[in-house]
Amino acid sequence: MYKIPANTLFVGKNLVFVPECHSTNTLAMELSQRGSLVDGTVIITDNQQAGRGQRGNHWISQPGKNLTFSVVLKPGFLKADQQFRLTQVISLAVTDYLKNRLDATVKIKWPNDILVNELKICGILIENSLSGDTIQFVVAGIGLNVNQIMLPNLKATSLTQETGKDSILENELELLLHAIEERYQQLRNGNSHQLEHDYLMNLYRKGEFHVFNTKEGALNGMIEGVDQRGRLILQSSEGKRFYDLKEISFADKE
Ligand code: BTN
Repeated sequence: MYKIPANTLFVGKNLVFVPECHSTNTLAMELSQRGSLVDGTVIITDNQQAGRGQRGNHWISQPGKNLTFSVVLKPGFLKADQQFRLTQVISLAVTDYLKNRLDATVKIKWPNDILVNELKICGILIENSLSGDTIQFVVAGIGLNVNQIMLPNLKATSLTQETGKDSILENELELLLHAIEERYQQLRNGNSHQLEHDYLMNLYRKGEFHVFNTKEGALNGMIEGVDQRGRLILQSSEGKRFYDLKEISFADKE
């Protein structure tokens, strides 16, 4: 069970705990489509059996050890072509939370993997329901490795791996929801320049040359930044190019 966070205004005030489910994102999408969820609703489970990730990947999490939840947001003030701002909000919120929690280098691997000392600790899957050029609702799914010791691959880590201690899941959830609300309020208050700035400051490998697998083949390029649509801007001997998620990956990815 999880308690309603005391330190937020609206995020997590409606908190739905399900002991097990296929995917909190799928459940949150279904419930939202039925129109029954208020802004800031959190759907959380201790046993997610078919967690979904980016690029059609699976998200596997040991039952009872980690945080697997989805936050429903209704950013009526955003247009559909501004969706990437939610990616900035959620990834910065997780980064803020982890920087407070750990004495380690925390980075955002474009678009929204969160790395601690270059190892993935958190995956984020953001799904939107659009109606014309407006966003009806957003489901931001977060999988944070907390107390899991045996991780699915060598490029992953967890809070317990970093601190050497177990953490209480409901305390971590409360801290994380507070960080989400803080960054979301920044967006709501029209401070998207700050979000853009902070996102770039925390972007993994920004300004460094690395090899990428692109739709045109392997390319040695430097991450210059991200455009308004969230496309990665890569600078190389071929010039400047823009890539969507499915068009590029780091050549040394796990
Ligand atoms: C990724 O790294 O590819 C994103 C993983 C996102 C996993 C979370 S866990 C809670 C929520 N429900 C899901 O099915 N996926 C997200």
